[in-house]
Amino acid sequence: MEPEPLITIGETRAVLDRLRAGGRSVGFVPTMGYLHDGHGSLMRAAGAANDVVVASIFVNPLQFAADEDLDSYPRDLGHDRALAAANGVDYLFAPSVDEMYPNGAVLTSVSVADLSERWDGASRPTHFAGVATVVAKLFNIVGPCRAYFGEKDFQQLTVIRRMVADLSAPVEVVGCPIVREPDGLAMSSRNAYLSPDDRAAAVVLRQALDAGLASVAGGETDPDRVVAAMTAVVDEEPRARLDYAAAVDPATLEVPCSLGPVTRLLIAAQLGQTRLIDNCEAVAPIEDRPDR
Ligand code: PAJ
Repeated sequence: MEPEPLITIGETRAVLDRLRAGGRSVGFVPTMGYLHDGHGSLMRAAGAANDVVVASIFVNPLQFAADEDLDSYPRDLGHDRALAAANGVDYLFAPSVDEMYPNGAVLTSVSVADLSERWDGASRPTHFAGVATVVAKLFNIVGPCRAYFGEKDFQQLTVIRRMVADLSAPVEVVGCPIVREPDGLAMSSRNAYLSPDDRAAAVVLRQALDAGLASVAGGETDPDRVVAAMTAVVDEEPRARLDYAAAVDPATLEVPCSLGPVTRLLIAAQLGQTRLIDNCEAVAPIEDRPDR
Protein backbone atom coordinates (compact mmCIF):
# COMPACT_ATOMS: atom_id res chain seq x y z
CA MET A 1 0.00 0.00 0.00
CA GLU A 2 1.31 3.50 -0.87
CA PRO A 3 2.28 5.49 2.23
CA GLU A 4 -0.07 8.30 3.19
CA PRO A 5 1.44 11.63 2.06
CA LEU A 6 1.96 14.35 4.66
CA ILE A 7 2.92 17.82 3.44
CA THR A 8 2.40 20.22 6.32
CA ILE A 9 3.85 20.23 9.82
CA GLY A 10 0.33 20.73 11.23
CA GLU A 11 -1.22 17.66 9.61
CA THR A 12 1.83 15.54 10.49
CA ARG A 13 1.51 16.50 14.17
CA ALA A 14 -2.25 15.89 14.15
CA VAL A 15 -1.97 12.40 12.60
CA LEU A 16 0.91 11.29 14.82
CA ASP A 17 -0.54 12.80 18.04
CA ARG A 18 -3.63 10.65 17.44
CA LEU A 19 -1.58 7.49 16.91
CA ARG A 20 0.64 8.11 19.96
CA ALA A 21 -2.44 8.83 22.10
CA GLY A 22 -3.71 5.41 21.00
CA GLY A 23 -0.53 3.85 22.36
CA ARG A 24 1.19 3.23 19.01
CA SER A 25 4.99 3.51 18.85
CA VAL A 26 6.44 5.62 16.01
CA GLY A 27 9.64 4.73 14.14
CA PHE A 28 11.17 7.47 11.97
CA VAL A 29 13.53 7.41 8.98
CA PRO A 30 14.74 10.86 7.86
CA THR A 31 16.03 10.99 4.25
CA MET A 32 16.72 13.36 1.38
CA GLY A 33 14.97 11.04 -1.09
CA TYR A 34 16.18 9.37 -4.29
CA LEU A 35 15.79 6.27 -2.20
CA HIS A 36 17.74 3.03 -2.56
CA ASP A 37 17.97 -0.16 -0.56
CA GLY A 38 20.19 1.51 2.07
CA HIS A 39 17.18 3.69 2.93
CA GLY A 40 14.93 0.62 2.52
CA SER A 41 16.93 -1.25 5.16
CA LEU A 42 16.31 1.56 7.68
CA MET A 43 12.58 1.45 6.88
CA ARG A 44 12.46 -2.30 7.42
CA ALA A 45 14.33 -1.95 10.73
CA ALA A 46 11.82 0.71 11.81
CA GLY A 47 8.91 -1.55 10.84
CA ALA A 48 10.30 -4.47 12.80
CA ALA A 49 10.40 -2.51 16.09
CA ASN A 50 7.55 0.02 15.86
CA ASP A 51 3.78 0.08 15.23
CA VAL A 52 3.94 2.96 12.76
CA VAL A 53 6.72 3.94 10.33
CA VAL A 54 7.19 7.52 9.18
CA ALA A 55 9.82 8.48 6.60
CA SER A 56 10.66 12.02 5.55
CA ILE A 57 11.96 13.25 2.22
CA PHE A 58 13.47 16.70 2.40
CA VAL A 59 16.52 17.98 0.54
CA ASN A 60 17.67 20.28 3.32
CA PRO A 61 19.23 23.50 1.97
CA LEU A 62 20.84 24.20 5.34
CA GLN A 63 23.31 21.33 5.01
CA PHE A 64 24.58 22.29 1.53
CA ALA A 65 27.30 24.92 1.08
CA ALA A 66 26.81 27.51 -1.69
CA ASP A 67 29.12 25.59 -4.05
CA GLU A 68 27.53 22.19 -3.40
CA ASP A 69 24.88 20.18 -5.27
CA LEU A 70 21.61 21.44 -3.70
CA ASP A 71 20.00 22.29 -7.04
CA SER A 72 21.20 19.19 -8.87
CA TYR A 73 20.58 16.74 -5.98
CA PRO A 74 18.67 13.86 -7.63
CA ARG A 75 14.91 13.73 -6.98
CA ASP A 76 12.20 11.21 -7.97
CA LEU A 77 9.18 11.30 -5.69
CA GLY A 78 7.22 8.67 -7.67
CA HIS A 79 10.04 6.13 -7.31
CA ASP A 80 10.50 7.11 -3.63
CA ARG A 81 6.81 6.51 -2.87
CA ALA A 82 7.01 3.02 -4.41
CA LEU A 83 10.22 2.14 -2.53
CA ALA A 84 8.76 3.41 0.74
CA ALA A 85 5.59 1.37 0.13
CA ALA A 86 7.59 -1.77 -0.60
CA ASN A 87 9.48 -1.30 2.68
CA GLY A 88 6.43 -0.84 4.90
CA VAL A 89 6.37 2.95 5.37
CA ASP A 90 2.95 4.15 6.60
CA TYR A 91 3.44 7.92 6.26
CA LEU A 92 5.73 9.92 3.99
CA PHE A 93 6.41 13.47 5.18
CA ALA A 94 7.64 15.49 2.20
CA PRO A 95 7.44 19.18 3.11
CA SER A 96 8.41 22.16 0.94
CA VAL A 97 11.36 24.38 1.84
CA ASP A 98 8.87 27.13 2.79
CA GLU A 99 7.03 24.78 5.13
CA MET A 100 10.28 23.90 6.93
CA TYR A 101 11.89 27.34 6.82
CA PRO A 102 9.01 29.86 6.62
CA ASN A 103 11.25 32.68 7.86
CA GLY A 104 13.99 32.02 5.33
CA ALA A 105 17.37 31.73 7.02
CA VAL A 106 17.21 30.23 10.51
CA LEU A 107 18.48 32.25 13.46
CA THR A 108 18.54 29.18 15.70
CA SER A 109 20.97 26.45 14.85
CA VAL A 110 22.07 23.24 16.56
CA SER A 111 25.80 22.74 16.38
CA VAL A 112 27.65 19.84 17.90
CA ALA A 113 31.17 21.13 18.57
CA ASP A 114 34.34 19.10 17.92
CA LEU A 115 32.57 16.09 16.39
CA SER A 116 31.31 18.31 13.56
CA GLU A 117 34.65 19.92 12.82
CA ARG A 118 36.89 17.01 11.89
CA TRP A 119 36.92 14.69 8.82
CA ASP A 120 33.93 15.59 6.64
CA GLY A 121 33.47 18.76 8.69
CA ALA A 122 36.94 19.95 7.66
CA SER A 123 35.91 20.18 3.99
CA ARG A 124 32.24 20.95 4.79
CA PRO A 125 32.40 23.40 7.74
CA THR A 126 28.65 24.21 7.91
CA HIS A 127 27.36 20.77 6.95
CA PHE A 128 26.79 19.07 10.31
CA ALA A 129 25.13 22.11 11.90
CA GLY A 130 22.71 22.01 8.95
CA VAL A 131 22.10 18.31 9.53
CA ALA A 132 21.70 18.60 13.31
CA THR A 133 19.33 21.55 12.96
CA VAL A 134 17.04 19.84 10.45
CA VAL A 135 17.08 16.55 12.36
CA ALA A 136 16.17 18.39 15.59
CA LYS A 137 13.30 20.08 13.72
CA LEU A 138 12.14 16.77 12.24
CA PHE A 139 12.23 15.13 15.69
CA ASN A 140 10.08 18.02 17.01
CA ILE A 141 7.60 17.56 14.16
CA VAL A 142 7.40 13.76 14.07
CA GLY A 143 7.97 12.95 17.76
CA PRO A 144 9.40 9.48 17.11
CA CYS A 145 10.11 6.86 19.79
CA ARG A 146 13.00 5.60 17.68
CA ALA A 147 14.88 7.14 14.75
CA TYR A 148 16.94 5.15 12.25
CA PHE A 149 20.24 6.31 10.71
CA GLY A 150 22.75 4.48 8.53
CA GLU A 151 26.32 3.77 9.56
CA LYS A 152 27.11 4.78 5.96
CA ASP A 153 27.29 8.34 7.30
CA PHE A 154 29.16 7.37 10.44
CA GLN A 155 30.16 10.88 11.47
CA GLN A 156 26.56 12.05 10.98
CA LEU A 157 25.32 9.18 13.18
CA THR A 158 27.88 10.13 15.86
CA VAL A 159 26.83 13.80 15.70
CA ILE A 160 23.12 12.91 16.00
CA ARG A 161 23.73 10.55 18.91
CA ARG A 162 25.64 13.28 20.73
CA MET A 163 22.97 15.91 19.99
CA VAL A 164 20.27 13.61 21.39
CA ALA A 165 22.35 12.91 24.51
CA ASP A 166 23.33 16.55 25.08
CA LEU A 167 19.76 17.86 24.61
CA SER A 168 18.04 14.89 26.32
CA ALA A 169 15.86 14.49 23.23
CA PRO A 170 13.17 11.86 23.93
CA VAL A 171 14.14 9.53 21.09
CA GLU A 172 16.24 6.41 20.76
CA VAL A 173 18.77 6.63 17.92
CA VAL A 174 19.27 3.32 16.12
CA GLY A 175 22.31 2.85 13.85
CA CYS A 176 21.93 0.40 10.93
CA PRO A 177 24.61 -1.42 8.86
CA ILE A 178 25.83 -0.16 5.49
CA VAL A 179 24.09 -1.66 2.45
CA ARG A 180 26.46 -2.19 -0.50
CA GLU A 181 26.31 -2.87 -4.22
CA PRO A 182 27.53 -6.36 -5.26
CA ASP A 183 31.06 -5.01 -5.98
CA GLY A 184 31.29 -3.45 -2.51
CA LEU A 185 30.48 0.21 -3.28
CA ALA A 186 28.27 1.62 -0.50
CA MET A 187 24.85 2.57 -1.87
CA SER A 188 24.37 6.34 -2.07
CA SER A 189 21.99 8.67 -3.89
CA ARG A 190 25.10 10.49 -5.14
CA ASN A 191 26.36 7.35 -6.97
CA ALA A 192 23.93 8.45 -9.70
CA TYR A 193 26.39 11.25 -10.57
CA LEU A 194 29.25 8.87 -11.43
CA SER A 195 30.31 8.34 -15.05
CA PRO A 196 30.64 4.64 -15.98
CA ASP A 197 34.45 4.86 -15.60
CA ASP A 198 34.24 6.62 -12.23
CA ARG A 199 31.58 4.14 -11.10
CA ALA A 200 33.96 1.28 -11.87
CA ALA A 201 36.83 3.05 -10.09
CA ALA A 202 34.68 3.88 -7.04
CA VAL A 203 35.14 0.37 -5.69
CA VAL A 204 38.59 1.63 -4.58
CA LEU A 205 37.01 3.03 -1.37
CA ARG A 206 35.90 -0.44 -0.30
CA GLN A 207 39.29 -1.86 -1.34
CA ALA A 208 41.13 0.74 0.76
CA LEU A 209 38.95 -0.13 3.76
CA ASP A 210 39.75 -3.81 3.18
CA ALA A 211 43.48 -3.00 3.24
CA GLY A 212 42.99 -1.14 6.53
CA LEU A 213 40.98 -4.06 7.92
CA ALA A 214 43.72 -6.52 6.95
CA SER A 215 46.32 -4.32 8.60
CA VAL A 216 44.36 -4.15 11.89
CA ALA A 217 43.55 -7.87 11.73
CA GLY A 218 47.28 -8.51 11.30
CA GLY A 219 47.92 -6.86 14.66
CA GLU A 220 48.87 -3.32 13.56
CA THR A 221 48.09 -0.81 16.33
CA ASP A 222 49.74 2.30 14.87
CA PRO A 223 46.95 4.37 13.25
CA ASP A 224 49.43 5.99 10.82
CA ARG A 225 50.46 2.61 9.44
CA VAL A 226 46.84 1.53 8.99
CA VAL A 227 46.14 4.78 7.16
CA ALA A 228 49.23 4.24 5.00
CA ALA A 229 47.87 0.84 3.95
CA MET A 230 44.56 2.47 2.97
CA THR A 231 46.22 5.40 1.17
CA ALA A 232 48.45 3.10 -0.89
CA VAL A 233 45.36 1.46 -2.40
CA VAL A 234 43.79 4.79 -3.40
CA ASP A 235 47.11 5.98 -4.87
CA GLU A 236 46.91 3.06 -7.32
CA GLU A 237 43.63 4.39 -8.77
CA PRO A 238 44.30 7.42 -10.99
CA ARG A 239 40.61 8.42 -11.18
CA ALA A 240 40.35 8.82 -7.38
CA ARG A 241 41.66 11.74 -5.31
CA LEU A 242 41.86 10.97 -1.60
CA ASP A 243 40.31 13.55 0.73
CA TYR A 244 41.10 11.69 3.96
CA ALA A 245 41.68 8.22 5.32
CA ALA A 246 41.62 7.75 9.08
CA ALA A 247 41.63 5.15 11.85
CA VAL A 248 39.66 6.62 14.76
CA ASP A 249 38.08 5.93 18.11
CA PRO A 250 34.43 5.12 17.19
CA ALA A 251 32.98 7.28 19.99
CA THR A 252 35.08 10.45 19.73
CA LEU A 253 36.24 10.17 16.10
CA GLU A 254 39.70 11.14 17.35
CA VAL A 255 42.88 9.38 16.29
CA PRO A 256 44.21 7.46 19.31
CA CYS A 257 47.95 7.07 20.02
CA SER A 258 47.50 3.34 19.68
CA LEU A 259 44.45 1.52 18.31
CA GLY A 260 42.13 -0.05 20.89
CA PRO A 261 40.08 -3.24 20.49
CA VAL A 262 37.57 -1.55 18.15
CA THR A 263 38.47 1.11 15.58
CA ARG A 264 36.45 2.87 12.90
CA LEU A 265 38.15 3.26 9.55
CA LEU A 266 36.93 6.30 7.62
CA ILE A 267 37.57 7.31 4.02
CA ALA A 268 36.50 10.08 1.65
CA ALA A 269 37.59 10.46 -1.95
CA GLN A 270 36.67 12.48 -4.99
CA LEU A 271 35.79 10.67 -8.24
CA GLY A 272 35.28 13.18 -11.04
CA GLN A 273 32.97 15.82 -9.56
CA THR A 274 31.57 13.43 -6.95
CA ARG A 275 32.78 13.11 -3.37
CA LEU A 276 32.15 9.67 -1.88
CA ILE A 277 32.51 8.50 1.74
CA ASP A 278 32.68 5.05 3.30
CA ASN A 279 33.74 3.45 6.58
CA CYS A 280 33.88 0.18 8.46
CA GLU A 281 34.57 -1.26 11.88
CA ALA A 282 37.98 -2.87 12.42
CA VAL A 283 38.44 -5.25 15.32
CA ALA A 284 41.90 -6.01 16.74
CA PRO A 285 42.90 -9.69 16.89
CA ILE A 286 41.88 -11.16 20.26
CA GLU A 287 45.42 -12.14 21.28
CA ASP A 288 46.54 -8.48 20.99
CA ARG A 289 43.94 -7.08 23.38
CA PRO A 290 45.45 -5.75 26.57
CA ASP A 291 42.75 -7.39 28.75
CA ARG A 292 43.69 -10.93 27.61
P1 PAJ B 1 20.32 10.64 3.02
O1 PAJ B 1 21.67 10.78 2.41
O2 PAJ B 1 19.13 10.52 2.12
O3 PAJ B 1 20.37 9.38 3.97
C1 PAJ B 1 19.27 9.07 4.78
C2 PAJ B 1 19.67 7.95 5.71
O4 PAJ B 1 19.98 6.78 4.94
C3 PAJ B 1 20.93 8.29 6.53
O5 PAJ B 1 20.76 7.86 7.88
C4 PAJ B 1 22.01 7.50 5.81
O6 PAJ B 1 23.11 7.15 6.64
C5 PAJ B 1 21.24 6.27 5.37
N1 PAJ B 1 21.92 5.58 4.27
C6 PAJ B 1 22.33 6.12 3.09
N2 PAJ B 1 22.98 5.19 2.36
C7 PAJ B 1 23.01 4.06 3.09
C8 PAJ B 1 23.56 2.74 2.89
N3 PAJ B 1 24.22 2.42 1.78
N4 PAJ B 1 23.39 1.84 3.87
C9 PAJ B 1 22.73 2.15 5.02
N5 PAJ B 1 22.18 3.37 5.26
C10 PAJ B 1 22.33 4.30 4.32
O7 PAJ B 1 21.66 11.50 5.54
C11 PAJ B 1 20.82 12.24 5.06
O8 PAJ B 1 20.03 11.89 3.99
C12 PAJ B 1 20.54 13.62 5.62
O9 PAJ B 1 21.73 14.18 6.11
C13 PAJ B 1 19.44 13.63 6.72
C14 PAJ B 1 19.83 12.80 7.93
C15 PAJ B 1 18.10 13.14 6.15
C16 PAJ B 1 19.23 15.09 7.21
O10 PAJ B 1 18.90 15.93 6.15
